[in-house]
Amino acid sequence: MSLFFPTNDNRLKTVWDGMQTAFESERIETANLDARLLLQHVLHIDHAALILQMDRVLTEDEISQLLPLIERRLKREPISRIFGKTEFWSLPFLVNEQTLDPRPDTETLIAAALKMVATKKDTALRILDLGTGTGCILLSLLSELENATGVGVDLNPGAIELAQLNAATLGLENRSSFFVSNWFSHVNEPFDLIVSNPPYIPSKDLSHLDKDVIDYDPILALDGGGSGLAPFEHILDNVSDYISPRAWLLFECGAGQDEAIIRLIEQSPFAKKISKWDVFPDLAGIIRVIGVEMGYFV
Ligand SMILES: C[S@@+](CC[C@H](N)C(=O)[O-])C[C@H]1O[C@@H](n2cnc3c(N)ncnc32)[C@H](O)[C@@H]1O
Repeated sequence: MSLFFPTNDNRLKTVWDGMQTAFESERIETANLDARLLLQHVLHIDHAALILQMDRVLTEDEISQLLPLIERRLKREPISRIFGKTEFWSLPFLVNEQTLDPRPDTETLIAAALKMVATKKDTALRILDLGTGTGCILLSLLSELENATGVGVDLNPGAIELAQLNAATLGLENRSSFFVSNWFSHVNEPFDLIVSNPPYIPSKDLSHLDKDVIDYDPILALDGGGSGLAPFEHILDNVSDYISPRAWLLFECGAGQDEAIIRLIEQSPFAKKISKWDVFPDLAGIIRVIGVEMGYFV
């Protein structure tokens, strides 16, 4: 029948095992999970139903739908990219080749921002998301902060189109706008909360990334220049012109970059305005987010 199920045994259990073995042979760490997700996708059933139907025999049609998906995963295309969607902050997001697939680590930024603005969460906060990609950061924050509105900018017009689509799908298009901008180049108003998950991989490390990342996420979303810090430096050099009298700035950063970024913040033009700063670890305990509060406390 196929390379993956050579015994011509199309029982779900056998197919699942065959897929897992094929994925493991490509050193895909989530082989069992990925096999399950592809099966659920083709069979339109949830995890529990899948477990209850282990002896079900897949039809020829189901097998022929499954095979190209297996081939794509074997070429290391991420599951989210195969499905064209993913979940972030428990919300559905469309994804495509124009920008980074939202990562679970980035949820640390959402939680951190909500914590920092907690005393102002019911006010009409204006939010700016620099390098918005799918729009996942801005839209997740807007889903939590009901009186807030925001802007997402990206250098890539394709990412802006995708973010607009995500805003519409989530019913947040009336509180968000997205446009092309080279960081602040087309931004011309102050914001209360500025967030960014910029590209931060040092250029020399790009060749060491997993195929799932380097072959599918665009280089513009990954490459942070020589030390990986160039986007942070640019944003920190310019952010003073775009903050309201009391404002918060939060960055996601790469593992081990936090101290260098804190030094950049201390040397930045707005350093004297900082009233408070904090760091936030991801689920693995790695410092993933740096947040500063700046304020004249008017
Ligand atoms: C790491 S991705 C983050 C995407 C999304 N915010 C997320 O967290 O999933 C960085 C994003 O920054 C954008 N970007 C890169 N350089 C930029 C620039 N000079 N100005 C604006 N956006 C830029 C990329 O196109 C990409 O969408």
